[in-house]
Amino acid sequence: MDKRETVIVLDFGGQYNQLVARRVRECHVYCEIYSYKTDIAKIKAMAPKGIILTGGPNSCYEEGAPTYNKELFELGIPVLGLCYGAQLMQHILGGKVERADKREYGKTEISVDTSSALFTDVSPNTTCWMSHFDYISRLAEGFVCVAHSADCPVAACEDSDRKLYGIQFHPEVLHTPEGTKMLYNFVRGVCGCAGDWKMDSFVEQSIRTIREKVGDGKVLCALSGGVDSSVAAVLLSKAVGDQLTCVFVDHGLLRKNEGDEVEAVFGPSGNYNLNFIRVNAQQRFYSKLAGVTEPERKRKIIGEEFIRVFEEEAKKIGAVDFLVQGTIYPDVVESGLGGESAVIKSHHNVGGLPDYVDFKEIIEPLRDLFKDEVRKAGLELGLPDYLVFRQPFPGPGLGIRIIGEVTEEKVRIVQDADFIYREEIAKAGLDGDINQYFAALTNMRSVGVMGDERTYDYAVVLRAVRTIDFMTAEAAQVPYEVLNRVMNRIINEVRGVNRVMYDLTSKPPGTIEFE
Ligand code: XMP
Repeated sequence: MDKRETVIVLDFGGQYNQLVARRVRECHVYCEIYSYKTDIAKIKAMAPKGIILTGGPNSCYEEGAPTYNKELFELGIPVLGLCYGAQLMQHILGGKVERADKREYGKTEISVDTSSALFTDVSPNTTCWMSHFDYISRLAEGFVCVAHSADCPVAACEDSDRKLYGIQFHPEVLHTPEGTKMLYNFVRGVCGCAGDWKMDSFVEQSIRTIREKVGDGKVLCALSGGVDSSVAAVLLSKAVGDQLTCVFVDHGLLRKNEGDEVEAVFGPSGNYNLNFIRVNAQQRFYSKLAGVTEPERKRKIIGEEFIRVFEEEAKKIGAVDFLVQGTIYPDVVESGLGGESAVIKSHHNVGGLPDYVDFKEIIEPLRDLFKDEVRKAGLELGLPDYLVFRQPFPGPGLGIRIIGEVTEEKVRIVQDADFIYREEIAKAGLDGDINQYFAALTNMRSVGVMGDERTYDYAVVLRAVRTIDFMTAEAAQVPYEVLNRVMNRIINEVRGVNRVMYDLTSKPPGTIEFE
């Protein structure tokens, strides 16, 4: 594969590290996140065009705080430190970092030196997002201050000869309106990246790499009908044609009618010339899940069973070497495999994999992409809009939207409730506006009254969120009339439900799914 220009983000545990990578990619420069524990030899071998050190929750002068080898700053590769990263750079190179009397947090006006390469085309007085206790009280030799605020003597600094830069605030968040420009200045200006990371080149390059890797081997693709696996399947089909077989497992945890819908699009009567196999494995999953209530165990069971079903299908086809999965970058990072962030949930495609997988190799062609980039790739491959812009649906499906034990009866309830909810959201014209919305089934039964009779039934909860990156989200304000209509229909049409609730929680502290 051609060597592509890469910028590396070294993760010191900051909450915005994924955003840093996204912003860099928005500048058409490919970017990957690595832990600060990554060996310097590995970094040298990757020969990045630039390195960005993220923020983090620690104080760099404390015993045991995350740090890095001083040699990093002597490689001749431009380095930009952000917040903790900026402080650490100073600390390592001989500057001084101290605790401020009070935390500087929120939107702050700063004055910048527009002759600095970081601030080309940035307004001399601009707004930024600050979030720090510590501050740089003395600069290391060779550095000059290029931005300050009323409370922060060094909001940015540079040693332009050594191409070392530090920014005390967070240019990656939207609260710093000119932040992307600053990152652009670093990656395109200081690092000299050409900016040729584009979707058409991604698609072309992936097709080439896949062909090389697969040769005349047989490939099995796990197709769920979601955006990620659909894009992966079509990409693979372009690369290896009928060496590819797509297996769609109906695990009985899909949304209402979804199995038939997926078959209609990708099956023999659909538009894609795929070897499509549908496996109806509903009962197999239900029996594995019987009596299991712990969320992580449910996820692992569903993940493992998935792989076992594929293996069996592969054996039937015979001599299948490769398994394709639609894993995307946030799955990798959120599963704790990419960076320093804590494991929140083991996402189906990655953390849920059993240790032993009976394929020669797993191909994950979208492993480096963020969701919006996957969508761009989908459009590039000619997938229809309605598929490309589908709301996400998790691999473990309704299994993680049924709190507690999964039973066939509960699946029916949540499918029917969710169907009504989606139908009403679409009728109200809100589907393009809300990024993800679904019904879930709580594990709570309560007393109600219906037609003079006592009921003791389940409570359904409705969730709707607005989010850009699915890492943070806020509850959407669905109009009350719409919610009311949904409530009425669910109570009247779905047997086993006598209460409907609306989830107001943002992420954090909640997550989007319930388990
Ligand atoms: P959470 O619940 O972690 O969800 O806030 C963030 C986004 O990821 C989706 N999600 C998953 N997707 N496999 C997936 O493919 C999974 O195991 C999984 N868990 C959550 C979720 O629907 C939301 O869009």
